[in-house]
Amino acid sequence: MKKSIIPILFALLSFEHHVFGHDDHLHHWEIPSADPDRIVLTLPGNPSTSFGVTWRTNTEIDGGVIEIAKETGAPRFDLTKRVLPASTENITFGKNEWKDELSINYHSVTVDGLEPDRLYCYRVGDGDVYMTEWIQYRTAPADDSPITFLYFGDAQNSVFSHWSRVIRAAYQKAPHANFALHAGDLINRANRDTEWAEWFKAGSFIHHSIATVPVAGNHEFYSNESLINREKFLSEHWAPQFNLPVEDRFPEEIQESVYSIDFNHMRVIVLNSNKFQQEQVAWFREQLKSNDKKWTVLSFHHPIFSSGKDRNNDDLRELWKPIIDEFGCDLILQGHDHTYARGQTLQVPVYSADSEGTESIQTVYVNSVSGPKQYEFQKNGWDDFTADNVNLIQKAENTQFFQVITIDGEKIDYKAYTAAGELYDSFVLKKDDTGSKTIIQGEAIANTRMFKNTEPYHREGMDY
Ligand SMILES: [Fe+2]
Repeated sequence: MKKSIIPILFALLSFEHHVFGHDDHLHHWEIPSADPDRIVLTLPGNPSTSFGVTWRTNTEIDGGVIEIAKETGAPRFDLTKRVLPASTENITFGKNEWKDELSINYHSVTVDGLEPDRLYCYRVGDGDVYMTEWIQYRTAPADDSPITFLYFGDAQNSVFSHWSRVIRAAYQKAPHANFALHAGDLINRANRDTEWAEWFKAGSFIHHSIATVPVAGNHEFYSNESLINREKFLSEHWAPQFNLPVEDRFPEEIQESVYSIDFNHMRVIVLNSNKFQQEQVAWFREQLKSNDKKWTVLSFHHPIFSSGKDRNNDDLRELWKPIIDEFGCDLILQGHDHTYARGQTLQVPVYSADSEGTESIQTVYVNSVSGPKQYEFQKNGWDDFTADNVNLIQKAENTQFFQVITIDGEKIDYKAYTAAGELYDSFVLKKDDTGSKTIIQGEAIANTRMFKNTEPYHREGMDY
């Protein structure tokens, strides 16, 4: 008997409907109003003395302010507030990505002249009735105090339903983190406004009170429609919604996706591994050459050492790894491969492990994933990269992760947790005055998490 195709068609149509948009049932938190939403705190300048905030409203609200005061614990701390105007820009997103045209006002402000390691309160809005609550934010320390930050690999898919619990678990583990680094693919379709709505809803007040350091992934890029001169462009949402350091030597379309931020002990360098990779080399080298901080943390989306099955970024490795080696970058935080991998390159010549089980190493590389989409691990691990003198120390499949990383003048303390809040992988990296590094590996867990020993994985009901 022939099966009717109607149920199949219906299933296909409802899949399309679920995946590609839902104009007929917008959620209230997707619709811009006079009240500020999508509030995100960023670090466009010195993180000890300044911060940035961006938010969105409907087009009725054509200006904005930030009010800021020191937190004193008294209810009327706000009597000493400063009020600063925001710059407002109207953005009309085209009728693409299966959505109607959408006109939005973005408001952006940078506050400076702040004291380091000081708790402030701020609120944003129209300066009248449409204001947020007072939000606490502590500036970064400028002295010897440690800096703690969160690291998230790709969130990307089912962000509201399946990533929100990861960022919330991270917040529970490190509520005083100075910033959260998102190593690309925060969402799945660069210009789909409803996906950005999910990212903001999932993080909610965490995005307001812990600074966001975003990295552009391939899914933050969209293609033009030309079949002959197909080109990719950074999401129309990126620049309006994140107030980031601007390197005006770069083409405008990648500005605010290539930048560095200096903390007391660390320079964080963010590169864009999607476009103009060659054009970033001179700036990258300058950032490393001029770096007077003890530690260098680097983040970009595509891994130097791929861990997803049948993936390899040899062009990128050839272009950027010699620079990483030359300057001895300490920690490289990446995404894209939807697996977990952590390992290290050894110094050349290789130092043998000493009696305490420590090794002299060059650079620690991490690939991670915080969202639900999961890939198989490379069959040979990192064996294909033996010419690069790299050791794979820990790996995982089928697991959502977040990391808590603390850094001070003495060491980098790295901890990778599963979404369940369980410690999965850790190390401490130390550097002596000569620049020589040793690593102390954390206690190994009993079982490496792989597809074969974890819950079944399938895509039904997920938006990918
Ligand atoms: Fe990716």
